[in-house]
Amino acid sequence: VAALAGALALPADLTRPGAGRRLADLTLDHLGRVDLLVAGAGVGWAGDFSGMPAARIDEIVGVDLLATVHLVRAVLPHMIAAGSGRVVLVGSLAGSVGVRGEAVYSAAKAALGVFADSLRYELRGTGVGVSHVVPGVVDTPFFDRRGIPYTRTWPRPVPAERVADAVHAAVLRGRDEVFVPGWLRLPARLRGAAPGLYRRLAARFG
Ligand SMILES: NC(=O)c1ccc[n+]([C@@H]2O[C@H](COP(=O)([O-])OP(=O)(O)OC[C@H]3O[C@@H](n4cnc5c(N)ncnc54)[C@H](OP(=O)(O)O)[C@@H]3O)[C@@H](O)[C@H]2O)c1
Repeated sequence: VAALAGALALPADLTRPGAGRRLADLTLDHLGRVDLLVAGAGVGWAGDFSGMPAARIDEIVGVDLLATVHLVRAVLPHMIAAGSGRVVLVGSLAGSVGVRGEAVYSAAKAALGVFADSLRYELRGTGVGVSHVVPGVVDTPFFDRRGIPYTRTWPRPVPAERVADAVHAAVLRGRDEVFVPGWLRLPARLRGAAPGLYRRLAARFG
């Protein structure tokens, strides 16, 4: 993909200590500046939390939350110094509403959403923006990789291109939060406005 796009790919395992900083340094060495960070690395795990192996807890929090936060920390000072830039954090609907069997994944993604909000307040007036892109279910190898297929009939998976378009639109329009597909903002808003009702509905319908 990088070759087709005339881009430069710099691979990194972001869970390694200092990986975010090294990646940021390499990027700055090659390009001199970073205008946009799309932080999309993520891993999942599904099953009852009481049976979740400790190593998987560390992996989920390590990739989905800690690696992302460290990567943002590594590039942000350069964006602030330049007076412009945007950070896009790829969250999940699981982080907005909580999902049975995905307690740690949901918690890590929820933390990412609050991180985005908090950072946005802090960055007001710097020229640097933060977008939180919140997909529902996306047709990618994510489920194969976590080892548990997606079996629900609803919501239906959307193509990855829908998320790419949402990221593109969020950057062009400077949007704070984008759900993919857009109607998924409704369960998130309902949970915020009427959490008791939402929990009863979620317990009943799953
Ligand atoms: N698929 C869904 O239904 C869904 C729904 C909501 C949110 N999301 C989120 O969307 C994002 C992309 O996921 P996806 O659906 O495209 O799944 P995916 O196909 O499994 O892609 C996961 C991506 O994360 C990268 N990654 C994983 N561990 C990493 C590490 N230690 N260091 C660096 N990169 C690492 C992978 O890189 P390699 O390929 O090099 O391993 C890959 O690019 C994730 O944050 C996921 O949580 C997905």
